[in-house]
Amino acid sequence: MVLFGAGQAGRAAARLIGSDWEICCFADNAAGRLPERVLGLEVLPPAEALEHAPDAVCLCAADAGRAGEMAAQLRGLGYTGQILDCASLRLFDARLAVMRLLAEQLKSLGIPGDAAELGVYRGCFAAQINAALPERTLHLFDTFRGFDARDIGPEAGLSRAAAGDFADTSVEAVRSILPHAERAVFHAGYFPETFEPCEGLRFALVSLDADLYAPTAAALPLFWERLSPGGAIIVHDVYGTQYPGAGRALDEFCRGRGVFAVPVGDLHGSAVLRKNR
Ligand SMILES: C[S@@+](CC[C@H](N)C(=O)[O-])C[C@H]1O[C@@H](n2cnc3c(N)ncnc32)[C@H](O)[C@@H]1O
Repeated sequence: MVLFGAGQAGRAAARLIGSDWEICCFADNAAGRLPERVLGLEVLPPAEALEHAPDAVCLCAADAGRAGEMAAQLRGLGYTGQILDCASLRLFDARLAVMRLLAEQLKSLGIPGDAAELGVYRGCFAAQINAALPERTLHLFDTFRGFDARDIGPEAGLSRAAAGDFADTSVEAVRSILPHAERAVFHAGYFPETFEPCEGLRFALVSLDADLYAPTAAALPLFWERLSPGGAIIVHDVYGTQYPGAGRALDEFCRGRGVFAVPVGDLHGSAVLRKNR
């Protein structure tokens, strides 16, 4: 199999592809400007990659809208084999599966504490936490006005984040998709300023999905110190290329506390921190 796209989606696909397939190389239109090898595999221009005569090419674009164009390019190069779409990376979501398994464990082990998410946006993942832990209070932290200008300075040299990215949402919109909205407590505003009402709480399951260095670095110690033994923090976007600040914040936290993160091979790369007794 050839993976078409050596970026974030291609790397995630390379880790997720089952052992029935042998990956011969990456194909990428930017080959030449990219490293010669990614994850130990050659990165070749598409025409050269097809010289491997692959049984299948998997389209690995982070932007799902590009799949048609990429397939047309392959057919234009005379490729007649199977074309797989890495949209299946969205169909099967490793982070969601891990969250659901953790929620089942927390319930069966009787681990006490609330659930929380920092970085809610339109509430897709929050709704899944709410469904998995319907009996727990769910604290939802977001500006609901997108990235805050105060967090953009520390992103210099890390990401292209801009103040106001992810502003197209609202508390009402999120509330309307929660299956157990009566369990949700909204903390709208700038984190960590909005954390104060939660200082005396215990948490069992926390999702950190703020993308940026500053809020992730602020959130890790606040939630970790209030995490029940057996509880877990899932940090999103820590092994991807789009928002390296979240990964940096996690590395610094882990090094400082002597804790280890368990990687999760979802599209953006997540990590789980579990607290021991
Ligand atoms: C990638 S989105 C979250 C995606 C969401 N978890 C989902 O399931 O779709 C990142 C969110 O983090 C929020 N955010 C980033 N920094 C923040 C801060 N300092 N305080 C509050 N919210 C913040 C942004 O407003 C944005 O909505």
